[in-house]
Amino acid sequence: MEQLIVGIDIGASKTKAVAVEKSQIIGFTSVQTKNISKSAIRALKMVLLAADRRCEDVRKIAISGGGARLIGNTLLELPVIRVDEILALGLGGLELSGKPQALIVSMGTGTALVIALDKGGRIEHIGGTGVGGGIIEGLSRRMLGIKKFEKIEEMANRGVASNVDLTVAELIGGPIGILPPNATASNFKKLNADTDKNDVAAAIFNMVAEVIGVITVMATKAYHLEKDIVLVGKIIQSIKIAELIRNLMKIFQIDVCIPSNGEYCVAIGAVKSII
Ligand SMILES: Nc1ncnc2c1ncn2[C@@H]1O[C@H](COP(=O)(O)OP(=O)(O)OP(=O)(O)O)[C@@H](O)[C@H]1O
Ligand SMILES: [Mg+2]
Repeated sequence: MEQLIVGIDIGASKTKAVAVEKSQIIGFTSVQTKNISKSAIRALKMVLLAADRRCEDVRKIAISGGGARLIGNTLLELPVIRVDEILALGLGGLELSGKPQALIVSMGTGTALVIALDKGGRIEHIGGTGVGGGIIEGLSRRMLGIKKFEKIEEMANRGVASNVDLTVAELIGGPIGILPPNATASNFKKLNADTDKNDVAAAIFNMVAEVIGVITVMATKAYHLEKDIVLVGKIIQSIKIAELIRNLMKIFQIDVCIPSNGEYCVAIGAVKSII
């Protein structure tokens, strides 16, 4: 019992927590990030409930994510250790994938790319994009009047992105270079006031998957990590996003690792960094 450590990741949208005992994850939880410290306390209480443990059993809390800087040195009187999010992401990505090195892409509200080499001995932030889950929710709220991710995904599944996006075939009559005819030449080029809402949802998903997919491919080539891509964060848990990214990767003959529980990557890595 005395070895219980809780990892908390306070992200822009969700606060995730894991309970780890003797190197085993015994509980997961995810709550909305609203008030930072209240969300962290809620996640802590809920993960203890999920793990069937009490506050007194916790030895330490490893806290990371954008909101971590606003948490003091204790949470419910338990000692808190703040962990840099890049470090946590790198260590978590290696842990979840079982790889000694990887390009880890955190697909959350925004998107961050981190390389982890030498079994975590070298971890570096190499870039990212503001395109992620936040733009899916924001554009859908405005363009579709819907904000719940699952509902937007349902619409995207019913829609056809190529009714909104201009394809390579439409532009030049066939394939070009490495691109097949159905690749996107211009996202949203065909959008107009009459476009079906399901098609708009499909195009939003397509754009987000393509932006993240393409920068991932470029980064992986730059760092020679083509065989070691690990995709984590909540939005890659979406079947639609994962399918779109895998299809895009096929053009570049690249395979990706999408570990289960990838949305807990930072929380897991934070614990890993202090044990
Ligand atoms: N059921 C779902 N499946 C996939 N994605 C979802 C689902 N519900 C919400 N999302 C998306 O997940 C995003 C949040 O992902 P995640 O929890 O990984 O990010 P975060 O850690 O809060 O953000 P960041 O890492 O950028 O600070 C939201 O922006 C939302 O669009
Ligand atoms: Mg995050």
